[in-house]
Amino acid sequence: MKEDFDVDGELGFEPAVSATGAEPRETPGETTPGETPRETERPKRGRRGGLRRRLGAGAIIAAALASMGGAYAAFATTSGASDTTTGAQDIAAGKQLYETSCITCHGANLQGVKDRGVSLIGVGGAAVYFQVSTGRMPASGQGAQQSRKTAKFDEQQTNQIAAYVQSIGGGPTLPTGSLRDGNIAEGGNLFRLNCASCHGTTFKGAPLSAGKTAPSLNQASDQQIYAAMLTGPENMPVFSDNQLTPAEKRQIVNYVQTLKASKDPGGNGIDRIGPVSEALVIWVGGVGALMIAILWIGAKAQ
Ligand code: HEC
Ligand code: HEC
Repeated sequence: MKEDFDVDGELGFEPAVSATGAEPRETPGETTPGETPRETERPKRGRRGGLRRRLGAGAIIAAALASMGGAYAAFATTSGASDTTTGAQDIAAGKQLYETSCITCHGANLQGVKDRGVSLIGVGGAAVYFQVSTGRMPASGQGAQQSRKTAKFDEQQTNQIAAYVQSIGGGPTLPTGSLRDGNIAEGGNLFRLNCASCHGTTFKGAPLSAGKTAPSLNQASDQQIYAAMLTGPENMPVFSDNQLTPAEKRQIVNYVQTLKASKDPGGNGIDRIGPVSEALVIWVGGVGALMIAILWIGAKAQ
């Protein structure tokens, strides 16, 4: 084996030889015929390594840009969700969902089906949003009051069905943007005047006559509270914008949600109306103001 290299001998030293004796290691300038493939491979491998490194860096930058873009897109779609639901594509998607899950009870033209489901003409996107997001619809059966369940559709699908029903039947829709605003104390007065008789002063809910119940408000979101007022599900009266202005509705939402958030982990905190819960309300309001300030600074920075 050694002779192979001795024949060449040009470099004046013996290249390091591997156990098999056929593979010299780093020997620049080696010209042994047996080594040619090795030699041409080496520099190539070096170049490939560099390329790989460059590709690696490029991939990282591309991935970072893509994820930023993705995050932006996600943010843009959530913040603009209510604008996009009116798009023709969403209406078409909503129509399809309606035809698979709602048409048997509400009919092909929303006109309702005798002994199955009521007409949806004029109920509006807000009623669909309320019924579907609280899991009441699609109904599991006739007769009994539909109670809150795990929603069958996600937020996007719910908005799509709402957009479809809205496009055919018209009716009230949920306003976009924040649904909380105004003076919490004033919201409390409005709540006691308009809602507490059925839902209780601490939102626990209460039985009504004829086996119906006014449910607890503890699981309701801002949109659901607003939509309930706007559409009056079941035995709940409709609070039209003449009865409670949009500003008053936002005050009520603000009051209910703020007090829920300030509840003791024990659960009974808001039964006490005293210095403690007032301090909590102020604290929560302060955090809200801080969040608004942060968002404002963030928006200015863009
Ligand atoms: C099994 C029959 C059935 C199915 C399926 C069903 N509904 Fe209903 N729906 C009803 C009945 C019955 C009512 C009235 C009950 C009530 O008011 O509590 C109702 C009420 C509603 C209301 C309230 C109407 C109003 O006047 O405020 C909306 C909105 C609604 N349904 C939407 C839907 C949508 C959207 C779907 C499909 C995702 C759906 N429903 C599927 C039976 C059904
Ligand atoms: C006459 C009694 C009555 C009054 C007054 C009333 N509600 Fe209701 N509310 C109900 C009933 C009954 C339901 C259940 C409807 C259903 O199951 O379809 C309900 C449901 C709701 C829900 C849905 C809760 C959930 O998680 O599913 C919200 C939110 C709500 N009401 C808010 C209000 C607000 C806010 C007011 C005051 C502006 C109010 N209600 C006034 C009877 C009432």
